[in-house]
Amino acid sequence: MERELAMEIVRVTELAALQSARWMGVGDKMAADRAATEAMRKMFDTVSMSGIVVIGEGEMDEAPMLYIGEELGNGVPPNVDVAVDPLEGTSVVANGQANGITVVAIAPRGTLLHAPDMYMEKLAVGPKARGKVHLEQSVRENLQAVAKANDKDISQVVAVILDRPRHEALIEEVRSAGARIKLIGSGDVAAAISTAFPDAGVDVLMGSGGAPEGVLAACALKCLGGDLMGRLLPEDDAQRQRCLDMGITDLEKVITLDQMVMGDDAIFSATGVTDGELLHGVRFLANHRAKTQSIVMRARTGTVRFIEAIHDLRRKVGWTS
Ligand code: FBP
Repeated sequence: MERELAMEIVRVTELAALQSARWMGVGDKMAADRAATEAMRKMFDTVSMSGIVVIGEGEMDEAPMLYIGEELGNGVPPNVDVAVDPLEGTSVVANGQANGITVVAIAPRGTLLHAPDMYMEKLAVGPKARGKVHLEQSVRENLQAVAKANDKDISQVVAVILDRPRHEALIEEVRSAGARIKLIGSGDVAAAISTAFPDAGVDVLMGSGGAPEGVLAACALKCLGGDLMGRLLPEDDAQRQRCLDMGITDLEKVITLDQMVMGDDAIFSATGVTDGELLHGVRFLANHRAKTQSIVMRARTGTVRFIEAIHDLRRKVGWTS
């Protein structure tokens, strides 16, 4: 994939962030998500690629756009898989809370895991702890390994976990191992990525969240040299059948980063909608201007760019007020 594609992709997440930010704090998460999805879909038409959505808004019959199997881009090479989460953290944006982002990842055709829409148990760490943790180890062993890798006492290790009743036992285990916990209301993609940035103040992501979000975070951590592994958690027969259809017969099997993102040519872009540890949210300024902050990275080179942009909304292609 050409490096210019990274700049084209960041324009997609920027427009989605700008449009959904108009719904920040308005209390309507569906509208915020729809605004991001429509903007993303529109902007993809301008991208020089021949893409197929493998992680999207749902199956063809349940999502009007950015559905799994939809073709995106202007039809020229490269042929790529596209993974999107137009608005990661719909309710946080609706409620004006932290860490709402828009997310796109692309990779050569056939190299992204087509993760089904179900929960996945996840373990994500930054580069220092890569190769030192494993889902087959106990929570305590993983926390000790993270402490050692990050040259910290275990009492300084911070695990980020979604604040859900299903995580009660995990929370107990982390605390009894002597580590700290940052509970988040939503948004485990940004949380997983944050483990690769020491300044973000979290060392490891633990617990279960969406499997599609797991693949998106895996793309980012591949670029950053971190690690993420997961285990699918089907909840009923239909979900178990989906795993079998994907060729996953052993449900206990740990899916590695390289099985989620095969090869090392992936591009990841995210733009902040609301302020978070990783990115600033959209700021609407005087004179029809707006400011965005994005992170865009390439796995092949490991380049990580933070891009701040000031947009003139009167002249912005695709902007609708
Ligand atoms: P939204 O659907 O509101 O965007 O939430 C996203 C998210 O918080 C993901 O980051 C996470 O993987 C998943 O939802 C967790 O699901 P649940 O809220 O059912 O625990």
